[in-house]
Amino acid sequence: MAHSHFQDDIVYQIYPRSFQDSDGDGIGDLKGIISRLPYLKKLGVTALWLSPCFVSPMEDMGYDIADYYHIDPIFGTNEDMDELIYEAGKRGMRIVLDMVLNHTSKEHEWFKKGRESVDNPYHEFYIWSKTPNDIQSTFGGSAWEYNEATQEYYFHLYAPGQPDLNWDSQKMREALYDACNYWLEKGVYGFRLDVIENIGKEIDKHIIQNGPTLHERLHELNRNTFGKYDSITIGECWCADHNTRLLYTDPSREELSMVFLFNDWGAFHDPYYGKWKCRPFDPHIYRDIIYARQQTDPAKSWDTIFWNNHDLPRALNRYTDLNYRKEAAKMLFASTLFLRGTPFIYQGDEIGMVNGHFASIKDFRDIEAINHYQILQNMGMSEEEAKAALDKTARDNGRIPMRWNSRKGYGFTKGTPWVDGGKDEKGFSVSEEEKDPTSILSFYKEAIALWKKEPYRTLIREGSFSPDYLEMTDWIAYTRMLNGKRLRVIANFSTNTYPKPDIPGKVLLHNYLEETDQLRPYEVYVFYVD
Ligand code: NOJ
Repeated sequence: MAHSHFQDDIVYQIYPRSFQDSDGDGIGDLKGIISRLPYLKKLGVTALWLSPCFVSPMEDMGYDIADYYHIDPIFGTNEDMDELIYEAGKRGMRIVLDMVLNHTSKEHEWFKKGRESVDNPYHEFYIWSKTPNDIQSTFGGSAWEYNEATQEYYFHLYAPGQPDLNWDSQKMREALYDACNYWLEKGVYGFRLDVIENIGKEIDKHIIQNGPTLHERLHELNRNTFGKYDSITIGECWCADHNTRLLYTDPSREELSMVFLFNDWGAFHDPYYGKWKCRPFDPHIYRDIIYARQQTDPAKSWDTIFWNNHDLPRALNRYTDLNYRKEAAKMLFASTLFLRGTPFIYQGDEIGMVNGHFASIKDFRDIEAINHYQILQNMGMSEEEAKAALDKTARDNGRIPMRWNSRKGYGFTKGTPWVDGGKDEKGFSVSEEEKDPTSILSFYKEAIALWKKEPYRTLIREGSFSPDYLEMTDWIAYTRMLNGKRLRVIANFSTNTYPKPDIPGKVLLHNYLEETDQLRPYEVYVFYVD
């Protein structure tokens, strides 16, 4: 079977603000990333996805882009990006940019001009109404904001500083294609496309995601930009599931390489408080969702495999018992790494990073968390309950500085980090874990090296998937098979201990020091049977 290059990629997500600061301003930057390329190469990843680093007022930490063509000075210069593309490329890693095409910042020239008058050529780049409806913004409050000059309201699904683009305007679409092509020509490998499921919206009918024009627009985007390149594209799709995602990923439709799905994460939301208060995790529910994705037509679907990103609190806190932090961190990685799809590692996963410790409400930086402190109280929580809810769920949890060492500033900055959240236990930092052959980091390196190596590589890319031990509701267990050769994964996703089934074959990967006849808390085995 012919395969695309992206099917052999293992991607590392960098949140540039929090990865490595090179100039002491407490905010990570591109030079910082460049200085850590040797580390990333040793880890073994093949592509780096950077959260947005374009010019931005940072109302939503860069997801509010004011200029698609320039790097924000806080992160460096366009020359730094050229250097990053080049230096990463030299080491076998390609750069994936985060393109926010659903909205811009209100500081973008297009919006500044378009809001001046209805006759301005940029007015049609955005979405306007004289009679706003009741759609609410994701970050709280009405999704409509009044614009004095034209006496209309503009639509913003996110912050008021993030006006939504009008995809019905061909001129607007072409302007976005130009921006995408600018970066593709510079040698970026592709894009992670922010909330791309929203671009076909039909606001009058209250339709945001999966709107009527969504797929036709995506096809056009593909044909005019990345489709002409050997590229990787990942759409962020909160409302898709294993079936509807085929509309994006079926190669014959020429849309995207793959999408991020979140129905596994959403499965544990509270019916009233949503993501701000989660129901207890149940491995069985999680597993069924993941398996369903693996069981759709392989010719039409390519999966993404990830536990964390900059919008999620850490999976270790959410899904596991931190008394077993080391075992659980390894288990999360190994239990899903061998599925069919592209694995994404979020910075810090490889050293078992956990949620931040925010002493007071003032320590949160994210507009969504800050707004929801009040919204949750309006919904019925006390101040203490709202703070406790944010401690567990706020996006800041995934955005605390990368822990390069356990000293002040974490090796991340010589200054004061823009967001803290420190106070983690010793042992879980890059410098400590590099010295320990049994560390999470060492395990990641070992697992990635295996993942890249034949005969496993072809088997993981092309093998069939079948679930095993379905009756064991605490387990993730499956077999991947190709030409009679098999990879078998058995993971205990709980603190219970079970008898270990007798599986012939060679142990490729295992997260405890010695093998026994039991499957202990969060213990995982990967076997190869040929
Ligand atoms: C999804 C991004 O991942 C998130 O960080 C951002 O706030 C929203 N899209 C809006 O751009």
